[in-house]
Amino acid sequence: MAEYLQGIVVAARGIPVTITISFVAIIGGLIIGLFVAIAKRSKFKVLRGLATIYVDILRGTPLLVQVLILAYGVPQLIKSTMGIQFNWEHMIIVGFIACGVNSSAYMAEIIRSGLQAVDIGQTEAARSLGLSSGQTMRYIIVPQAFKIIVPALGNEFVTLIKETSILSVAGIVEITRRGTLWASSSFLSFQAYIGVAIVYLVMTLTLSRLVAYIERRLAQSDRS
Ligand code: ARG
Repeated sequence: MAEYLQGIVVAARGIPVTITISFVAIIGGLIIGLFVAIAKRSKFKVLRGLATIYVDILRGTPLLVQVLILAYGVPQLIKSTMGIQFNWEHMIIVGFIACGVNSSAYMAEIIRSGLQAVDIGQTEAARSLGLSSGQTMRYIIVPQAFKIIVPALGNEFVTLIKETSILSVAGIVEITRRGTLWASSSFLSFQAYIGVAIVYLVMTLTLSRLVAYIERRLAQSDRS
């Protein structure tokens, strides 16, 4: 029993790193995703095409492979093409970039559906009041769309927390890597990974309850 408890405690030490990466990635993903979503609705065909390719590539390849390319592929490419020895100073940066960029593709689709969900009448009303299309987007559409997508954003955050476990292959010492390290020094692989699982479970359950609560509150403020 004590070993299981120790497994949980060891895994829990990775929580700050996991949360930090998830947080940076969700903010970064939100910003990039907003631009990608807007690009997808652009009247310029090239821009729309680029946005589609971006989303297709990121969603069509495993995050694990994207992390491997960024963490190990890119340094080797820089070395062999430019002759500079490049090493990621802090692997956690790979985590920020890989998770943020990966999430931005999913986020773009969430945002796009949110923008589409705002009634066209809102645009028509804003435009007839003399707002430019940029102003309409900024002041009328985006705020309403944001409210619609809050639950989906919350779910994306929960997903991200779990996905960061992939970063353990890049040696980033988050929750999963803590478990692996402890497993290989204590030989208690079962206890180690059960501990890891429990830590994720507690985090995701807490967060998804919170998302559900916010969702209910938002629905309430719609009615009143
Ligand atoms: N497991 C998926 C993959 O390997 C990544 C899913 C990421 N999902 C997300 N909503 N950010 O490609």
